[in-house]
Amino acid sequence: MTVIVQPTIAEAARVAAQKIAQAMRKKPNLVLGLATGSTPLRLYEELIRLHKETGLDFSRVTTFNLDEYLGLPPDHPASYRRFMQDNFFSKINLNPNHTFVPDGLTQDITRHCREYEALIKSCGGIDIQVLGIGSDGHIGFNEPTSSLASRTRDKALAEQTRRDNARFFASLDEVPHGCITMGIGTILESRKCLLLAFGQNKARVVAEAVEGPVTSMIPASALQFHADASFIVDEPAAANLKLRAYYDQAFANELLGS
Ligand code: F6R
Repeated sequence: MTVIVQPTIAEAARVAAQKIAQAMRKKPNLVLGLATGSTPLRLYEELIRLHKETGLDFSRVTTFNLDEYLGLPPDHPASYRRFMQDNFFSKINLNPNHTFVPDGLTQDITRHCREYEALIKSCGGIDIQVLGIGSDGHIGFNEPTSSLASRTRDKALAEQTRRDNARFFASLDEVPHGCITMGIGTILESRKCLLLAFGQNKARVVAEAVEGPVTSMIPASALQFHADASFIVDEPAAANLKLRAYYDQAFANELLGS
C-alpha cells in the first residue's frame, strides 16, 4: 500500500491524473475503472485539461464504472451514467460504445451482473481502478460487512450512505435504497487501484483503511491485500495517519526514481 499526501485537492488530483496519463501513453487501449461522487471530479477536470492542452488521447480507452443506483434511468439527473456523461465522457474523445456503467433499470439483475463481469474480462481486465471512499469505509457501494470476495451484484445502501448522497437528490426520500456495484473481489482484480480521499470527514476512515486491521467493517481495508494500491489524499484526510513521515519519505523516493 502506498500513501501519497498532497497539500491540496488540486495537487492530489494532478498526481492521480499523471499516473493515469502515463499509463495511457504506455497502453493507449487502457481499461479504466471509474468512480462517481464529489471526490473524482477534480481528477476528471485534470484529465480533460490534459486531453485539451496536450492531446491526451482517449479514443482507444475503455471505461467501466463501479456502480449505479437501482431504479434510476440513465438520463436521471442523479444517475451515475448521467454524472459520467456530464462531468467526463462528453468532454473527451472516448468512444461512447466503450463506456460501461451498470444498468440501474435491468430486469434481470443476476444476469446483468454476470455479463458485466464477463465484459470486464473480455476487455482484458481493469488496468487502473479509480476509487473514492465512503464515510463508512465503503468502496464502490460495498457497504460494511460486504464479503471481501464479492463480485458485481445488487446491494442495499446503508442509511449513512443515503444521507451522505442526499445532496445529489431533491430530498432524502428520493435517494434509492439499492444499487448494483462491482464487488470487492472484482475491484481487487484490477491491476492498479488509486483511491482518492479529501477532507477532514474522511480522516478517520482513511486511517482505519490504511493502518487498521483488514475487516469487512471497513471494506476499503481489503486494499491492503492488493499488490499495487495507492491512497492519494489531501492534508485534512491524512490527519489521523500514524506513519505519515514514512509515507512522505517513500513518495519522495518514488519521485527521485521517476
Ligand atoms: C461512487 C462510489 C462511492 C464513492 C464514495 C465517496 O461511484 O463508488 O464509493 O466513491 O461514496 O463519495 P464522495 O466522493 O461523494 O465522498
